[in-house]
Amino acid sequence: MRMVDLILKKKRGEALTKEEIDFVVTNFVNGEIPDYQMSAFLMAVCFKGMTKEETAIFTDAFAHSGDMVDLSAIKGIKVDKHSTGGVGDKTTLVIAPIVASCGVKVAKMSGRGLGHTGGTIDKLEAIPGFNTTIDKDRFFEIVNEIGVSVIGQSGNLTPADKKCYALRDVTGTVDSIPLIAISIMSKKLAAGSDCILLDVKTGSGAFMKTVDDSIELAKTMVDIGTNCGRKVVALITDMDIPLGDNIGNALEVIEAIETLKGQGPKDLTEVCIELAANMLYMAKMGDIDKCRKMVKDKIESGEALQVLAKMAKAQGGDPEYILHPEKFTIAPVKVEVKAEKDGFISHMDAEGIGISSTMLGAGRETKESVIDFGAGIKLVKKTHDKVSKGDTIAILYTSDEKLVENAKARFLKSVTIEDKDSKVDPLIFARVTHDNIERY
Ligand code: URA
Repeated sequence: MRMVDLILKKKRGEALTKEEIDFVVTNFVNGEIPDYQMSAFLMAVCFKGMTKEETAIFTDAFAHSGDMVDLSAIKGIKVDKHSTGGVGDKTTLVIAPIVASCGVKVAKMSGRGLGHTGGTIDKLEAIPGFNTTIDKDRFFEIVNEIGVSVIGQSGNLTPADKKCYALRDVTGTVDSIPLIAISIMSKKLAAGSDCILLDVKTGSGAFMKTVDDSIELAKTMVDIGTNCGRKVVALITDMDIPLGDNIGNALEVIEAIETLKGQGPKDLTEVCIELAANMLYMAKMGDIDKCRKMVKDKIESGEALQVLAKMAKAQGGDPEYILHPEKFTIAPVKVEVKAEKDGFISHMDAEGIGISSTMLGAGRETKESVIDFGAGIKLVKKTHDKVSKGDTIAILYTSDEKLVENAKARFLKSVTIEDKDSKVDPLIFARVTHDNIERY
């Protein structure tokens, strides 16, 4: 078998067989298939797609390309959550401690930033000392003791996805329903939790720009997980504007802490409550209203914040940063972006804002880029806000003054100011299960 023939086959839009898929995955992981051939194959998938059967076979091959984690050493029901990625999406930092404080175990493996979107592991590493690469035994110990631990994909968890993810990030091959479904579900299946909540983002800052595409992605993933014996639910949530007000690693940790104190932005708080309540519901903690109440109580009592501080400490991080977030260092170059005319902010292109944040140093331009944890953007105004010419709409932070001009131009290009306001979208569009698609 030759990789070039399989690239050509996919370029013609034909489906690969199981034998061919196993050949691609095995030889990509062992280095026989070079990055440039895999990149060409991935690009062909972006244009030609995959059948449901190919997607399921690829997912299984990716999941089995490394260790399949056995979480039986952790007592009780284990619930996992995964977001398809967005701008300002710091929900894991809020939800995981809330769910753990309600007595449900969260043994979570998260990813780094991808394309214009941020990643939980990069955000956690903004907490000084926080170690995202602890070994399996310590990971289990922390989950048993505290209820939650979040680590990066361990060395041998889905190595196929690890290599592919880094390649897709820099080759413009992220926004494909089968590639996203394979990437997410292979990791979730290998990571071993009983229940999986998928947060499928939709809108200008998401990889899926329309609700219909997001529902198709959600259904693909829910079906793969259910057919593998896991309980899977997906919520379709809004990513047409950044979630919350802060974008960038340290800035997002600060905002997650504010949310755990009950002082977070309304949109972020609402989405987190809904996601956490659905995780508790899947873990059979009660009906959805009871689960929502439990979530709100754990925020109000401060217990969830304490769990985040304990998790940070257990993973080598300084818990004082969680309890006193003013300790975080934010990048020193601070530039205010002003409205160029009067009117309403009728649209914020969240992808453009994510790219602007990356340009300030908060994300990676290449596989080798080093992240500036203190860089990012604070939104002062958001979609539907009324502004006057000269009002500050955002503050950009970076450590390198030379990055400001282009990042500012990208930011301004992403904001539309019009005389009339635009339609207000819901925060949650739909809930997808194996048997049902409920649109709100
Ligand atoms: N998140 C992932 O883990 N993989 C993708 O492909 C996209 C978002």
